[in-house]
Amino acid sequence: MRKAPAMHAGLMSLVLASAWLLVAPAQAAQAPQAGTAHPPGAAIASAHQLSTDAGLEILGQGGNAFDAAIAVSSTLSVVEPISSGIGGGGFFLLHDAKSGRDVFVDARETAPAAATPAAYLDKNGELDRDRATNGPWSAGIPGLPAALVHLAERYGKLPLKTSLAPAIRIAREGFPIYPRLEKGYASRREVMERYAGTRAVFLADGSPPKAGEILKQPELAHTLELLAGKGYDGFYRGEVAKKLLAAVKHEGGQWRADELSGYQVREREPLRLKYRGWDIVTAPPPSSGGVALAEILQMLSGWDLSKLDDAHRVHIVAEAMRRAYRDRTLYLGDPDFVKVPLARLTSADYAAGLRATIHPEKATPSDLLSGTPAPLEDDETTHFSIIDAEGNRVAATQTVNLLYGSGMVAPGTGVLLNNEMDDFALRPGTPNAFGVMGFSANAPAPGKRMLSSMTPSFLESKDKVIAVGAPGGSRIITQVLLAILAYDAGLAPQQVAALPRYHHQWMPDAISAEAGALDAATVSALQAMGHKVNAGEASWGNLQTVMWDKAAGTLSGGTDPRNPVGKAAVLAQP
Ligand code: DON
Repeated sequence: MRKAPAMHAGLMSLVLASAWLLVAPAQAAQAPQAGTAHPPGAAIASAHQLSTDAGLEILGQGGNAFDAAIAVSSTLSVVEPISSGIGGGGFFLLHDAKSGRDVFVDARETAPAAATPAAYLDKNGELDRDRATNGPWSAGIPGLPAALVHLAERYGKLPLKTSLAPAIRIAREGFPIYPRLEKGYASRREVMERYAGTRAVFLADGSPPKAGEILKQPELAHTLELLAGKGYDGFYRGEVAKKLLAAVKHEGGQWRADELSGYQVREREPLRLKYRGWDIVTAPPPSSGGVALAEILQMLSGWDLSKLDDAHRVHIVAEAMRRAYRDRTLYLGDPDFVKVPLARLTSADYAAGLRATIHPEKATPSDLLSGTPAPLEDDETTHFSIIDAEGNRVAATQTVNLLYGSGMVAPGTGVLLNNEMDDFALRPGTPNAFGVMGFSANAPAPGKRMLSSMTPSFLESKDKVIAVGAPGGSRIITQVLLAILAYDAGLAPQQVAALPRYHHQWMPDAISAEAGALDAATVSALQAMGHKVNAGEASWGNLQTVMWDKAAGTLSGGTDPRNPVGKAAVLAQP
């Protein structure tokens, strides 16, 4: 439902203003003791100004980082339907300051029982890409609503109702559409307009969403209210569940009521690794991110990267990326279903073995490591990072997978379903939308979680505490990796978010680079070593990070300048 923009001109100019960074007023005259002091306030970075502001609002009402995370997450579900939503899933990495405990809340979608590999093959036995990425068969059972309830019940200080209030308000009153929503809609229009429920939200006024107009989602507001009032049952049982089941059935899909009512988040031990004085806490399976980071960083620890010229540094990093992405393909999947050789893949000895295969001057062709070919990707999904004044932290990445997920809104709910099923290896060895493939470890099975690249992470050194993460499909892991290397080189959060990126994922066998990431001499030198370099690719990612500098007693944030509606903010201690 949309209205003329004039009503919300003030809000619109706020939203259309470019990304900004508010640095806390110098607060601590004296450097606090590392590890014991509290941050001098709170910091939030997220991909939309309204979601960052929703988090600040909840902190202002006495909420902690976990309450703020509920507000940020649910508001992103409203204002960034292109990226994530309560019809999707996500990972929430939490640090509870009081107990010192880190926990990884896995709210990844699960496969419905009907989603067998055979269900995704066409009559020639090829992957039916339409089924894998559009409409009801592409959707897994949503996990995000369960995560919001879990965070409120286990970790928050405020009632769920309070923390969901900003999202409900914005869904009902509307927010100004921004260019990324308009462009994304145009690229998914054919699929989205197949579904009556989607048309009711996005074509309410007869024409597709246009930047500057106001998008109102009263049915989504109602669904969020049911979640706020009834908790888990408000989404997974009763009115909303019935409508979701009916919509999936009507469009030819198959979900069972007990698959919704039985959905559970999993609390998992995060993966821990060390790199040059940093303690890194990151995503375990069913994310591939932490394992890949562990492999890459341990391979890289054999070099002092600061001593290498640009070409050799990129060469070594790309070679490490290549090897880790190969293992992602072969070994990783949902640990509740397959035995992931975690200890081996993350061990120093294994990394040393891989390191020994890196030639200092020559690219290793990926097919020497074994494998098959693959295409490219897109950049949606969303990440936010929060540190509060008690020292609690959240790094959360949430998604509906591709632009606007499955394209299908269940009528009467405002819930846009994800298309996360494409993250399974639906057909062994056939690349998915991100060009990554897999085999039996990531084959679909009833109730199984599809492998992810989402890598919400914490970094901690003697002086610094950082939360970081990004969207970008298979390119998430390498964004987090480059962020770790940049923080290690002393960059500040905003510089880290802005840094030009490069990436290698084993297949396709090429280094992808954004404009400005590699200069011409570096590209030539890499080519001379045998690398294929795709320089000047369209930019990707949307990194959001916050940092508490314990030695300086400051907080700061970085929001990705590639996304002009993002916002990093620091709230000084009230
Ligand atoms: O979980 C994953 O790895 C993907 N579903 C994330 C999708 C994503 O980041 C989309 N952006 N390009």
